[in-house]
Amino acid sequence: MNKPLYQFFAEDHQYIEELLNRATAQPDEIDMNYYHIFRTRLLRHIKMEEKTLFPAAKKANETVTQALVPRYRVEHGALTALMVPPPTTSLIKVIRHILEKHNLAEEGPGGLYDVCEALTQGQTQELLAQLANTEEVPVHPPNPAPIAIESARRALARAGYDFDEIAQLAND
Ligand SMILES: [Fe+2]
Ligand SMILES: [Fe+2]
Repeated sequence: MNKPLYQFFAEDHQYIEELLNRATAQPDEIDMNYYHIFRTRLLRHIKMEEKTLFPAAKKANETVTQALVPRYRVEHGALTALMVPPPTTSLIKVIRHILEKHNLAEEGPGGLYDVCEALTQGQTQELLAQLANTEEVPVHPPNPAPIAIESARRALARAGYDFDEIAQLAND
């Protein structure tokens, strides 16, 4: 089956992951230029899902969408909160962990994109045009205040994750 929405979002996932890889290519130093692009692209990606994909799916079938979408919204909240504190090795480890699980669930068979693609058949081209026109989300510089990392930890907990537990996982 031809899956243009799936393809569009999966390619964006790859691109965003690549930006994070570039930001962390050096073992002891985070490249803040790449990290900035990573943050803005990830927030834009979340905006595309929240402002274009979810509403289109909801319009097609509210019941199905409301059963499917809350988990992703909560994880988007966690990812957005994780974009606020200055990046550290543990923060990046946690971001990678959540992003990997989140993206796999969205891309998986019968996952978010498959369902949304099926629900919005007939308006794919229109949606792709809207998605491509999504403007970037303006970001503040990273916030070193303790409240930023505390909020991120709380948002993570709402999504069912524990910051310290993830930060302590062995690198594989
Ligand atoms: Fe998402
Ligand atoms: Fe996504």
